[in-house]
Amino acid sequence: MQKNYGVKFTAFSSALPSVVVKNNDLEKLFSTSDEWIYTRTGIRERRVVSDKESGLSLSVDAANKTLAKAKVDPKDLDLIIVATTTPDKLYPSMSCMLQGKIGAKNSFCFDLSAACSGFIYGITTAAQYIYNGECKNILLVGVDIHSRFIDWSERSVAVLFGDGAGAVLIQRCLAKDDELMCHSLHTESDVDLDLTLPNENILYPNHKNEICPDFVKMNGKAVYQFAVRVVPDVVNKILNKVNLTPKEIDYLVLHQANQRIIDTVSEKLKFNKTQVVSNIEKVGNTSAASIPLVIADSIEKKILKAPCKMLLVGFGAGLTWGGLLINWQGDS
Ligand code: UT7
Repeated sequence: MQKNYGVKFTAFSSALPSVVVKNNDLEKLFSTSDEWIYTRTGIRERRVVSDKESGLSLSVDAANKTLAKAKVDPKDLDLIIVATTTPDKLYPSMSCMLQGKIGAKNSFCFDLSAACSGFIYGITTAAQYIYNGECKNILLVGVDIHSRFIDWSERSVAVLFGDGAGAVLIQRCLAKDDELMCHSLHTESDVDLDLTLPNENILYPNHKNEICPDFVKMNGKAVYQFAVRVVPDVVNKILNKVNLTPKEIDYLVLHQANQRIIDTVSEKLKFNKTQVVSNIEKVGNTSAASIPLVIADSIEKKILKAPCKMLLVGFGAGLTWGGLLINWQGDS
């Protein structure tokens, strides 16, 4: 396809809730240990929302920081996409509520549900609105607050997740300056429901007077095996498309699901440790927020520096997965 415009990633930012839950705190809830959790997941602590915080408040925080960094007026936004599977309400969507909170009255808005692949699907979707000439300024937010959808007595799930939000401003630029080099998205219906968050009130309408718990159900081993199968495959697809080798990529940015998945995949692909960014130790698995969060964190810590080629891969419930390669020239 002949492109009339290119896509530019102008500013990344993130927001974390205030409450820190360390592995030692979880030892009080069920039989586990800091050592077990750290060895199996690489996680030491995660953040969870307080009673005064929500997915929306984190989104507002991340959005405002991004727009301030990019020096863009909210009124100049054409589109807001929020990638989430834990919205504050079924409707209005998170993006519609966010629009009101940040005063982006000239934008149209929708949410995108692709679980931990949401940010990758979101970038790809946003890019189409730039390429077709409809939008100039798009705000993409990835946010999830799984702490509200976890059975805190179920140790195999509770250790993994944390809450957070991350955002990026995606802007139109000249076609020759396009920073999005290529993408590859995939779906394979999770017929065994290895990773699911049921909506119990819809499934059991006759129980509408009872409060039905909506908890994440996960077959950890099956999801682990899925990840180490599909992530190398999508990375190789992308590298083949652009005819590059792992050595020519500056940073591999994987969904922060489990440090063991990150290590296994990067070793399999022969990326060295200095190319692989990670912040899971401090924030856990933040689902749709994990990729923008680790990018924003790594930029702030000067671990990730422009200009660079960064290869992003998300994977999660659906089952969905996808990757994309960004030739990033830096914050504007
Ligand atoms: O965003 C995408 C979403 N999800 C993922 O990416 C999840 C991918 N999967 C994983 O990260 C891992 O499967 C887990 C971290 C969830 C679990 O690690 P595992 O190495 O697969 O452990 P396991 O489920 O095979 O359990 C091993 C043992 C079991 O005991 P037995 O049967 O060997 O006696 C579990 O009961 O560890 C036990 N166990 C625990 N022990 C202490 C499970 N959870 C815990 C715990 N603390 N929190």
